[in-house]
Amino acid sequence: MNQIQKDWWRTATIYQIYPKSFCDSADKGIGDIKGIISKLDYLKTLGIDAIWLTPIYQSPMIDNGYDISDYYTINPDFGCMADFDLLLEIAHQKGMRIILDIVVNHTSTAHQWFKSALGNKDSEYRDYYIWKDPINAQAPTNWQSKFGGNAWALDEKTNQYYLHLFAKEQADLNWENPKVRDEVKDIISFWAEKGVDGFRLDVINLISKQQDYQNDYQGDGRRFYTDGPRVHEYLQEISDAVFNQYGSVTVGEMSSTSLEECQQYSSLDGKELSMVFNFHHLKIDYQNGEKWTETPFDFLQLKSIFNHWQQGMSGKGWSALFWCNHDQPRIVTRLGNDQEYRVESAKMLATSLHMMQGTPYVYQGEEIGMTNPGYTSIEQYRDLESINMYDIMRHQQGKSEQDVLAILAQKSRDNSRTPIQWNSEKHAGFTNGTPWLQVAENYPDVNVEQALKDENSVFYYYQRLIALRKEVAVITTGDYTDLAPEHAQLFCYRRRSDQQTLICINNYYAESVEYALPAELAVAKGKYILGNYPGLLTDDVACLVKLRPYECRVLLFEHQ
Ligand code: GLC
Repeated sequence: MNQIQKDWWRTATIYQIYPKSFCDSADKGIGDIKGIISKLDYLKTLGIDAIWLTPIYQSPMIDNGYDISDYYTINPDFGCMADFDLLLEIAHQKGMRIILDIVVNHTSTAHQWFKSALGNKDSEYRDYYIWKDPINAQAPTNWQSKFGGNAWALDEKTNQYYLHLFAKEQADLNWENPKVRDEVKDIISFWAEKGVDGFRLDVINLISKQQDYQNDYQGDGRRFYTDGPRVHEYLQEISDAVFNQYGSVTVGEMSSTSLEECQQYSSLDGKELSMVFNFHHLKIDYQNGEKWTETPFDFLQLKSIFNHWQQGMSGKGWSALFWCNHDQPRIVTRLGNDQEYRVESAKMLATSLHMMQGTPYVYQGEEIGMTNPGYTSIEQYRDLESINMYDIMRHQQGKSEQDVLAILAQKSRDNSRTPIQWNSEKHAGFTNGTPWLQVAENYPDVNVEQALKDENSVFYYYQRLIALRKEVAVITTGDYTDLAPEHAQLFCYRRRSDQQTLICINNYYAESVEYALPAELAVAKGKYILGNYPGLLTDDVACLVKLRPYECRVLLFEHQ
């Protein structure tokens, strides 16, 4: 068996749960672990292999759990350790693995390490964080926090600044300190010992900072800490000590990274991580790199980014394939058509991603084609990034209320954090209390109960995609070629191995279009294995394929 055949996760699909918005078992308005347990059969029906839970640890929840104050305790909002142990046990019984989110670029400022370090240069934990003296009574560098504003906060008592690449309540850890790295190994071992199967590593390519801490006159500072000088060394150290000891699957979240770095992070020899998330394909609706704009997406750029990564990772590394997560707007609103062609475009988008090489991630609600909620007032938002950016755009940049709300409706992270729409009852069946974030208004039509009753639903289509990955080897092993990179409407690519050729044709727009199959295939014996319009799956492969609005087709050719 070669490496690719050996690892279970290369033919797997992973489902992401954002516990706060998944299912509330206790009428609190916040989802919890017992709620997750109650939905495991539903996930089993979908056919997924593993569940990634975003952080469930003790946290003041300034950034919804990405600000951890105790890595060894479950957040009481979500339940207790006994609940977690039960979740792990039942998920395993049902044949699903559990992946936890590890946030170790930073801790909450409410963590006992930080509390001891703040205001006390002699604390044994002072050097767990990154402290610098002021320069001309100002912050040591001009770096910007990812959530807006300067990335340094002053500790008045000691007159030194600490670094926070995210909120000021999320202090960056000093990975240069070997004690910090040992703490990280202990944390991961604790959960691996319990039987946790894998880890998603939050913004893990930011952990090694260039040590000269200089001003950035060309950008926001990221070039001094992204894919930093010792990051590969650190990851190898952690992998050796923990991941490889336990056989954990690992996925690293890589912010503003490059193909070359990702080939190394996820190299097939398994020295660092199993696979990586990158975000380049989701920056196609940014304006000159700026997220906080209302901009249509650039289709040719989308294809060219996928082409670069699909070809570049092939045989070298492994990609996590995804459209959605808790930081990204809903894909059917973003690139599809969430009104007239919601079902068709949700299925087409899923197809164009799931036929690529990598491990697909399905974010909760994506499998029923959930949409952005279309909030119209700042009071409806809860996300600290959105609220910070609202203030900056309104009060520093002087943008109008209407413009800023339109930008948030397109880009806010809350777009994907609305509660899961389970049924058409009050609050979509998510809670009997008051939901922490308002449910999208389309829940009477778009919900799980409805989807399970309809054989043509987005749900059953995802179920088929997940199963297909296990049945058709070329999806995992084949090479990748874009057959029409310049086409303004179609994304059409080929996957090929010695045994099989697969063609995936996707119409990204509401206008019909024709596509002529490459000459050598038009005469070969192939069959349609998937399409997003009912009926019309025929073994007769016509050379000229007519695609209706948002239509997609997948064809398979077995080589003789
Ligand atoms: C990651 C998380 C995001 C969080 C940030 C800081 O990007 O996905 O939700 O705010 O890291 O931890």
